[in-house]
Amino acid sequence: MDKIISAQNVTFEYETEEGNIAVMEDFSVDFEKGSFTAVLGHNGSGKSTLAKLLNGLNKPTKGNVIVSGMNTNDEVHAIDIKRIVGMVFQNPDNQLVSTIVDEDVAFGLENLGVEPNEMRRRVDEALKAVEMYEYKDSSPHKLSGGQKQRVAIAGIIAMEPECIVLDEPTAMLDPRGRQEVMETIIKLCKEKNITIILITHYMNEAAMADRVVVMDKGKILLDGIPSKVFSQVELLKSVGLDVPQPTELVFELKKAGIDLDSSIITVDECVEALTGALQEEK
Ligand SMILES: Nc1ncnc2c1ncn2[C@@H]1O[C@H](COP(=O)(O)OP(=O)(O)O)[C@@H](O)[C@H]1O
Ligand SMILES: [Mg+2]
Repeated sequence: MDKIISAQNVTFEYETEEGNIAVMEDFSVDFEKGSFTAVLGHNGSGKSTLAKLLNGLNKPTKGNVIVSGMNTNDEVHAIDIKRIVGMVFQNPDNQLVSTIVDEDVAFGLENLGVEPNEMRRRVDEALKAVEMYEYKDSSPHKLSGGQKQRVAIAGIIAMEPECIVLDEPTAMLDPRGRQEVMETIIKLCKEKNITIILITHYMNEAAMADRVVVMDKGKILLDGIPSKVFSQVELLKSVGLDVPQPTELVFELKKAGIDLDSSIITVDECVEALTGALQEEK
């Protein structure tokens, strides 16, 4: 598989008045083109620092981050890299700049000097992709949180990125908004082959990814398919993380002596396994 981003032996330090704060040391990770990875980790584990390393907002103190063959340390590639790897942040209000939805989506393109017809095409396509086209003439501040976040995502899509890094994009949304954003992300990955890197605190969101990376103290603690990662219930709890509720239920039932598959992560799988176990009891 093709790698779109490769972080190689990255050391990262923040320079502060009290001295340098080392967040990562000799950190390496690759992301495959078109994949959907969720990144989990307790507060302060280095997730946001990593997100910003992936598009050159943070530069490694040592080591390299390669995006589609370009090194983020090379200033000549800075604009191309930011276009290829789009970022979506937690608070949609901080990401919307205009008073009309479609002007907001066009904002980044204006800065890139895209010509008007092409701009119109890209803005319309991006708004349709996040299912916000019918709101194109609306004012962003009248939208729900989930709708605002989808407009912010449309602004990124209009730049035709190959990868989108989302840093806790659903943290400020209600359950419905969270679901809308998750459906949008999954659709972009599956239909447009956009690589998705989703930082989240929600275990059920991470369970929807192809791969889960768990960070702790600037290092990768676990990395694998969701069912394998979440089967490490005790290790995850030891670093202050939860597991999806169905996994937790199965974990507790197994402790009580009921034989169930520990790779269960979704409600449907859990229902099926419990139905099976109850029938065996009869
Ligand atoms: N701008 C900054 N200056 C100094 N230290 C920072 C800065 N941003 C983050 N840190 C520190 O780096 C560590 C990792 O932070 P961060 O990447 O934000 O973690 P997370 O996103 O997982 O909560 C924390 O100890 C945090 O205090
Ligand atoms: Mg963070």
